[in-house]
Amino acid sequence: MAAAIDALTSPTLKHLREAWWDDVFTEFLAETLKPRPGNRILDVGCGEGLAEVAIGRLHISQVRLVGVDLVLSKVLAASQETASHNLRVKFAAADACRLPFRDGVFDSLYSVAVLQHVNDVEAAVAEFARVTAPRGRVLAVEPDNSARYGFSSTPAGRRAFELSRSFFSALSGQSDGRRSAIGPNLPRLFSESGLEPLDVRLFPVSLTLLGPPDASVWKSRREAVERALRSGAPDAAQWIGREYLETLTAYEAEATPAGSSFVEIQHTILFATVGQKID
Ligand SMILES: C[S@@+](CC[C@H](N)C(=O)[O-])C[C@H]1O[C@@H](n2cnc3c(N)ncnc32)[C@H](O)[C@@H]1O
Repeated sequence: MAAAIDALTSPTLKHLREAWWDDVFTEFLAETLKPRPGNRILDVGCGEGLAEVAIGRLHISQVRLVGVDLVLSKVLAASQETASHNLRVKFAAADACRLPFRDGVFDSLYSVAVLQHVNDVEAAVAEFARVTAPRGRVLAVEPDNSARYGFSSTPAGRRAFELSRSFFSALSGQSDGRRSAIGPNLPRLFSESGLEPLDVRLFPVSLTLLGPPDASVWKSRREAVERALRSGAPDAAQWIGREYLETLTAYEAEATPAGSSFVEIQHTILFATVGQKID
């Protein structure tokens, strides 16, 4: 669905989640973590527990899952989301940089699309290594937002992609975003924390719109920008946002009459890095 995967409405991959977290990704997660009966597995930055539900569908018996998230409302939503799924899972509020667990208590650990939001990434990865048992697996999945590609067949569309980049960076107060380029830096971060990098797997995520999008897509794009502007955007973001809104209107006006010659392409890459705690 076009509105669900849209780099023009969000600086992160959260709207793309449905597009890439499929059965192949869940199986990759399970193959990587190698869960065995009785294993304890930690999800750092579990959000609303969707990963736990997906893992539960694999019916790996007697695995004990623990999910933590910085935001209490997410933890509560995760408990609710998983309640009817017959899982051995517990959730708690905790910061990735100060995990409330003893050294080496988890057999494996995963963290998906979280480090891009964390200020002290080194501290978080060191915590991943600390709470994982020797020879245990750690999986971190992060994007590199500079690997994003956006193309439109109309001039206002190409300008909209440029403005979305500057608008979302101005909103976050980051000009270049060291954190948004975290994906390909994970092997280095792992090595520095005593995790031996074993594999890097790329998960491409793409969308092609051929023919102009529905009115609802344009509406949701404009609403996303208006929402961001209302929620206390800094001055730099305010003026870029106003130009961005005008450009989205011009983009719709160019796209609609273009008919089947209209094309818009969005593409990005997720970097999944697998590490093993050194003995
Ligand atoms: C994009 S969501 C990903 C959620 C989940 N991993 C998934 O893939 O569905 C990012 C999550 O990281 C959490 N988060 C951000 N900073 C965190 C921190 N320092 N410690 C723990 N969780 C954090 C957010 O609250 C949010 O739930």
